[in-house]
Amino acid sequence: MTILDIIDKKRLKQELTFEEIKYVVDNFVNGNIPDYQMSALLMAMVINGMTEKETIDLTKVMIDSGDIIDLSSISGIKVDKHSTGGVGDKTTLILAPLVASCGVKVVKMSGRGLGHTGGTIDKLEAIKGFKVNLSVNEFIKQVNDIGVAITSQTGNLVPADKKIYALRDVTGTVSSIPLIATSIMSKKIASGADKIVIDVKVGNGALIKTIEEARILANLMIKIGKQYGKDVVCVLSDMNQPLGQTIGNGLEVVEAIHVLRVKGSIKLRELVITLGSIMVSLGKQIALEEAKKEIMTNLINGQAYQKFMEMVKAQNGDIDKINISFKSYSVKSKQEGYINGIDALGIGEIVRKLGGGRFHKEDEINYGVGILLEKSVGEYVKQGDKLLTVYYDEKRIDEQEILNCFMIEKERKEEKPLIYEIIE
Ligand code: URA
Repeated sequence: MTILDIIDKKRLKQELTFEEIKYVVDNFVNGNIPDYQMSALLMAMVINGMTEKETIDLTKVMIDSGDIIDLSSISGIKVDKHSTGGVGDKTTLILAPLVASCGVKVVKMSGRGLGHTGGTIDKLEAIKGFKVNLSVNEFIKQVNDIGVAITSQTGNLVPADKKIYALRDVTGTVSSIPLIATSIMSKKIASGADKIVIDVKVGNGALIKTIEEARILANLMIKIGKQYGKDVVCVLSDMNQPLGQTIGNGLEVVEAIHVLRVKGSIKLRELVITLGSIMVSLGKQIALEEAKKEIMTNLINGQAYQKFMEMVKAQNGDIDKINISFKSYSVKSKQEGYINGIDALGIGEIVRKLGGGRFHKEDEINYGVGILLEKSVGEYVKQGDKLLTVYYDEKRIDEQEILNCFMIEKERKEEKPLIYEIIE
């Protein structure tokens, strides 16, 4: 068996065997297959697709490439949540402590930003001192002590995904349903939670652009989960506009705190309540309506905020020191009319250019930069009304590029729903 034969086979749209997939992954992880050959195979997989069997086999081989975390020393049902990636998506920062405050153990391993989309670990690093790289023992101890911990992937969890994802990110091979399914599910299964809720983002700011594709991805991930005895629930949610009012690491932490104190974006709160109710229902084995009551109660009575503060303290964060840039300027509307859209992809790219995301793997993030949206989709604006505030450090962004992200029209268009579907 050689890598060239395997690339050829996939180019000719033939199904790879388990042995061939294992050969590729093992030899790529140990350095015998170079990036250029792996890139060629990944591109053939993106273009010609993968069968369900290939996808399930690839997931298994990826899980087996590293450690499987044993969480049996944490009692009860452990739940996890994952987002396929969006713009302004600070949901985990609110959701993890909220669900834990209802008595469900939340074991959350998160990632960094990818492309124009943000990552929870980058956001948490905007809090001075916050320790994002807990060891497995520290992670388990914290969940046993306070019910929740958020950490980056431990060293040897699915090393195959770390290597393959880094390559996909720079070779235009990210947007593939089977590759996304294997990447997410291998990590979720190896990290040991019993129940997994996945927020599948759909729209121009997401990796998945249509509801039809999102349904296929969701069903595939549910099927993979079933093979490993894991309950997976997928929520298909809109990512055609940024989630909430802030985009940028430090600003998003501040907004998450606002929501935990029952202020801020209604849409963000709605998504948190939907995902949180499912997580509590799965974790406590209770009806969804009952779970929703617990979530609403703990959001309103401050228990969720208290749990967030406990988590920040346990992970050495100093909540009084959130990195926000001192320099800012506002951008005003040049038109009058209804805001019928705010381009999530465009805004995500602007924040990346400000320094809030990476263009190369080794880029340093500027945690303080970002955008505060002063207006939401559906609002009416007049010429001269403030649309947003840009927090910057060195680079200012051309005003027209920012204005191009706003679709302002005479007639008001119906807004897309926040939640499209829940698939179990
Ligand atoms: N999130 C992941 O972890 N992997 C993907 O491939 C896409 C989103």
